[in-house]
Amino acid sequence: MRIRQILSTWEYKDMKSSSITIYNIQVFDCNTIRDDMSNLREKINPFFMYGTAWKENRTENLTLMSLQSGFRAIDTANQKKHYFEEGVGKGITRFLESEDFQRQDLFIQTKFTYEEGQDKRLPYDPKADYPTQVKQSFQSSLDHLKTDYIDSYILHGPSTDKGLADKDYEVWETMESLQKDRLTKYIGISNVSANQLQLLIDKASIKPTFVQNRCFARLGWDKMIREICYENDIIYQGFSLLTANRNFISDPRIKQIAASYGEPTPSIIFSFAKQIGILPLTGTSKQVHMNQDLLGIDIKLTNEEIHLIQSIADI
Ligand SMILES: NC(=O)c1ccc[n+]([C@@H]2O[C@H](COP(=O)([O-])OP(=O)(O)OC[C@H]3O[C@@H](n4cnc5c(N)ncnc54)[C@H](OP(=O)(O)O)[C@@H]3O)[C@@H](O)[C@H]2O)c1
Repeated sequence: MRIRQILSTWEYKDMKSSSITIYNIQVFDCNTIRDDMSNLREKINPFFMYGTAWKENRTENLTLMSLQSGFRAIDTANQKKHYFEEGVGKGITRFLESEDFQRQDLFIQTKFTYEEGQDKRLPYDPKADYPTQVKQSFQSSLDHLKTDYIDSYILHGPSTDKGLADKDYEVWETMESLQKDRLTKYIGISNVSANQLQLLIDKASIKPTFVQNRCFARLGWDKMIREICYENDIIYQGFSLLTANRNFISDPRIKQIAASYGEPTPSIIFSFAKQIGILPLTGTSKQVHMNQDLLGIDIKLTNEEIHLIQSIADI
């Protein structure tokens, strides 16, 4: 097991003021326990992200509920097929109007989705070139989310299963220009294979800050991608940690760990994810689970427990 500690300190200019904010983002070897992100954590809440997919007309209230519960990082997409981005914006607005928080206390992430991933309700003109589509989608996200900047803008997925097409690079270059113009703080990519991620890293002038992937235990909790992320100072966001791994999560050995802490199994999985350097997403629709998830994320598992969960899907 390699032990490496702080690998990177990222610095960027806050877009709303001229001050420089330094976030100490500690990126750890994906086989090593990571136990402190306190500097970043004091600023925002990026150690856990609330996901707003499939909430439909409950999106506004659930977004508000998640923020009132303590989440500060929200994930959405300008993709009406699966997300109601305007509802997210309304939930955020209600939160900021009723609580003592400012926009910059929150971390808002949204995505550009190709026409193939959308239904007929497109946030851009499909006949326009790709840079125009990205700019139209981005502007529409700003309108939905009632903000003048995005914290993290994600390419929802490459246009092909294998490799990257010219249009992926065109889209990425446009996203880079949004970051250069300080309209988004970071850019990232989702649903990406190891090969695609490496291609993007090799060719992009601005590398992704985030990768967001479905995290399968049977793939060593997406170990190959996490290794690339680790080597390139990219933060790996894992979704479907519970739903993609039902068989493994119900393993008696994991249940036993949960019982020994007196905590529910999801909390063990989320804290495990955090401790190995994953930024987890939760998509719960229940207040009780939001509270549980936020409390449970700080459970400190032992090396042995981490190792057991990491290898739970090994034959
Ligand atoms: N980039 C992409 O293509 C992509 C794809 C999928 C998802 N995402 C993002 O990831 C987010 C999360 O998606 P997901 O697939 O991980 O989750 P999810 O499917 O939205 O929800 C997790 C499921 O686990 C259940 N659950 C039970 N106990 C729970 C607990 N203690 N905490 C949380 N959930 C519990 C939830 O039920 P209850 O509601 O009853 O708690 C829910 O059915 C999405 O909302 C979206 O933002 C991105």
